[in-house]
Amino acid sequence: MLALSGIGQLVTNDEIHGGRLGVLNEAAIVFDKGLVAWIGESKDVAKNCDVAPINVDGRAVIPGFVDSHTHLVFGGDRVHEFEARMAGKPYESGGILTTVAGTRAASDGQLVGNVERLASESLRSGTTTLEVKSGYGLSVADEVRSLVAARTVTSETTFLGAHVVPPESSADEYVAKVCTEMLAACAPHAKWIDVFCDRGAFDLDQARQILSAGKGAGLGLRIHANQLQHGGAIRLGVEIGAASCDHCSHVDDADIDALAGANDRTVATLLPVAEMCTRSNLPNARNFLDAGVTVAIATDCNPGSSYTTSMPLVISLAVANMGMTPDEATWSATAGGAAALRRDDIGVLRVGARADAVVLDAPSHSYLSYRPGMQQIQAVVRQGVVVSGSWSMSR
Ligand code: NIG
Ligand code: FE
Repeated sequence: MLALSGIGQLVTNDEIHGGRLGVLNEAAIVFDKGLVAWIGESKDVAKNCDVAPINVDGRAVIPGFVDSHTHLVFGGDRVHEFEARMAGKPYESGGILTTVAGTRAASDGQLVGNVERLASESLRSGTTTLEVKSGYGLSVADEVRSLVAARTVTSETTFLGAHVVPPESSADEYVAKVCTEMLAACAPHAKWIDVFCDRGAFDLDQARQILSAGKGAGLGLRIHANQLQHGGAIRLGVEIGAASCDHCSHVDDADIDALAGANDRTVATLLPVAEMCTRSNLPNARNFLDAGVTVAIATDCNPGSSYTTSMPLVISLAVANMGMTPDEATWSATAGGAAALRRDDIGVLRVGARADAVVLDAPSHSYLSYRPGMQQIQAVVRQGVVVSGSWSMSR
């Protein structure tokens, strides 16, 4: 059992407490057996727990971040591609093949080591749930071992065999393989299937074929949609029942209408660090939010377009450069990510939900964007256990 008292601002994301963020002040929370056991006023905490509460001295506590889009399984890096891009070269999907070569050359131990390094970095910055994709193996054996490596850090694993066509195959051959042999080998290790439906990757017909095959194998659907150019991928994602359309960097009114009409079934996941590190225009989150679309924000951590695991950075960009309010960005980084994974046990602090929370070294969650770039993660609790940070607060 673990109890936190003296919480200046407790963000629950439970509307029962008022507003979308369900904020409580002068609050306390008790965690037991990996779940939230009690939430209430600080003065009542002693009657509701049998441990000495930790007084967080007026700090803010929020649900742990849910990073619902990452590509953590890879070998090597692409720092030279980044340098060339910052000297003016445009970003294209072809760079993915550099990482495919690095991933194929890496041993299982190296792949797992890299995933664990990034997952632990991510946990220290407040992320308590991660989605992790394959997609840099692009052979049956390399996709399987990528998913096995992903499974060492999360149960939210995604088969992204359809990232690009590998050099040894034709597009037709490869799509057929992804839908049959590769899917059969990967499905036992994956919860989701994803397709990169964009310029230089897969077209709409191929994406439909691959997602339909994935659905047939019992996987949930996700789609990389409209990152590099405008196309029909968002509308396909909504039509086929994807949990999330990701990137959404090039959208028109029909795309927004489709997402709004999905009534929470399909979330739009925005990935602003990918735009920042490819010097591309960021999507305007207001267009989505004002139309009633459910929006998640995530890191897209990968060695090509967005080599970060920091959700606080994503929140800063969402507020400063995508038109979100601090309240909206905090919701999208927690409950929004949970919606993108169709989970209602995370991204929220209510009795019975998972005991995943972050203590901020700040009086309010708005400090995440108000003080960009500052280390404000005081402690991270995952499934009721303090997994990162210090308790220099008074007991
Ligand atoms: O989401 N768009 C496709 N995949 C990644 C980039 C992968 C890479 O460049 O290695 C993304 O940005
Ligand atoms: Fe991605």
